[in-house]
Amino acid sequence: MSDSTELICTKSRREFCVSACHAATAVALGSVLQSCGGGGSPAGPGGGNTAPPLTVVNGTVAGGTVTVAVDGASPLATVGGAALVRSSSGDMLVARTAQDAFAALTAICTHENCTITGFRTPTYVCPCHGSQFNTAGQVQSGPATRSLRTFPTQFAGTTLTITL
Ligand code: FES
Repeated sequence: MSDSTELICTKSRREFCVSACHAATAVALGSVLQSCGGGGSPAGPGGGNTAPPLTVVNGTVAGGTVTVAVDGASPLATVGGAALVRSSSGDMLVARTAQDAFAALTAICTHENCTITGFRTPTYVCPCHGSQFNTAGQVQSGPATRSLRTFPTQFAGTTLTITL
C-alpha cells in the first residue's frame, strides 16, 4: 500500500468513526430523553399518584371553633364521606368515620406544607409528592414521615364543631 493510499484509508476510517460516533451519540441521547419522559406520557404532580379532589365545604370560625353544617347534600352526610373544610382558620380534612363520629385534621402536609386536596377512600393524597394519610392522619406512604395534626370534634343535630 502506498503512502497516499494509507492516508486515504486512515482518513476514511477516521470519518467513519466520526459518523458512527455521532450516530451512537444520537441514539444514546434519544434513549436518555425517552427515559426522562421525552417520549412517554408526562408524569403529573405526585408522579401520577393523584386522587380525585375533595369537595370543598365552608366552615365558620367562632370562639376557637370551626362549625360546619352537615345537611343531606354535604359530602359528610354519609359514613365514609370526606371534605376539605375551608375557613379563615385554614384548611382542614374532615371525614365521617361513623354515624356520630368525625375525624378532623390539618390539611397542611407534613412533608413540605402543600394543601392536601385528594381523597381515594379511605386515604388522603397530597398532590405535591403523593404522600398518603389515613383518616386518623397517620402516614400510609411517604415522603411525609409525620402524622397530620388532629382536632377534637363534636356533632349535634346537623352541626359539626371542630375545636382548634
Ligand atoms: S408536600 Fe405533601 S408530599 Fe410533599
